[in-house]
Amino acid sequence: MSPKSLNAQAIRLSVAPMMDWTDTHCRVFHRVLAPHARLYTEMVHANAVVLGDRTRLLAMDAIEHPVALQLGGSEPELLAQAARIGAEHGFDEINLNCGCPSDRVQAGRFGACLMREPALVADSVAAMVAACAIPVTVKCRLGVDDDHDYDHFVAFIDTVAAAGCRMFVVHARNAWLKGLSPKENREVPPLRYDWAYALKRDRPGLQVIVNGGIATEAEATAHLDHVDGAMLGRAAYHDPYLLHRLDVAWFGGTLRTRGELLRAMRPYIEDQLARGVYLKHITRHLLGLFAGERGGRAFRQVLSEGAHKPGADWSLIEQALALTQAPALVA
Ligand SMILES: Cc1cc2nc3c(=O)[nH]c(=O)nc-3n(C[C@H](O)[C@H](O)[C@H](O)COP(=O)(O)O)c2cc1C
Repeated sequence: MSPKSLNAQAIRLSVAPMMDWTDTHCRVFHRVLAPHARLYTEMVHANAVVLGDRTRLLAMDAIEHPVALQLGGSEPELLAQAARIGAEHGFDEINLNCGCPSDRVQAGRFGACLMREPALVADSVAAMVAACAIPVTVKCRLGVDDDHDYDHFVAFIDTVAAAGCRMFVVHARNAWLKGLSPKENREVPPLRYDWAYALKRDRPGLQVIVNGGIATEAEATAHLDHVDGAMLGRAAYHDPYLLHRLDVAWFGGTLRTRGELLRAMRPYIEDQLARGVYLKHITRHLLGLFAGERGGRAFRQVLSEGAHKPGADWSLIEQALALTQAPALVA
């Protein structure tokens, strides 16, 4: 199977894979906010895809497309099987995690420590490319620990690209494998966007997405002068309206209010409730919608306190929404 490049429009804006956060409910919400964004699942280990409960692990709603399945693992055969299963399930892309620094992941010899094993990543990518007809991409760091050699980073990319990966999501900092928690590893190692920019300049045939620390519309937009796309993680999750503003600014359309966007979720939410899903599993992803807005804290509080109660339904969301729309108190 020949390497697949992705449509340029389809990769400009994306939401990062985030464990425990970017589940199917979250992705549906992000899709409503950003019709043109590329969405990523939480990382799922290849072994779990092959042997585990796929209905749960690969849950995905038709509205989510385009959506990528992120895999963890380092055994080419297993990754190939998981990639095939992911493609059969309807995912639009398979992304290999070469950036996660957690102890558990290190013990399993995957994630960020794969930055030191380019040949193994290349074998894995080649096996996945051969196993499915959708693009296989890689999300990586700049290096691990005290790797500070740009040529070394590019050598990793070249080796993996030769195996059939055309798109790299670069979380533009190192992973420090000893002494930092995964959370610290998203904050402490310094960001070096210039490496991602240089990669695009030096390898124009590859698609390069920059990730890490992008917090505002202006920052995201500035990256587009240098690379093919911007991937947002925490900012998109904590301030989801940012995604909507970016989507409208970059792809056109009319800005909708937060309330309109929330109400656009109603059919999905009611359908999920009818299937027995608890409201709290969906509303936990909505809490940041009014971040920084009048009534935003009350909105968050009403949903946090009420969504786990038996029988909680759409009316709770209307109740929370009303608090954001009450007329301002006149002094
Ligand atoms: C709660 C959480 C879970 C994460 N899980 C994953 C994951 O499963 N796979 C992955 O490649 N990165 C994961 N990341 C890292 C993000 O994808 C992203 O690279 C990182 O947060 C930097 O981007 P940001 O500064 O825009 O958040 C996670 C980040 C967070 C905050």
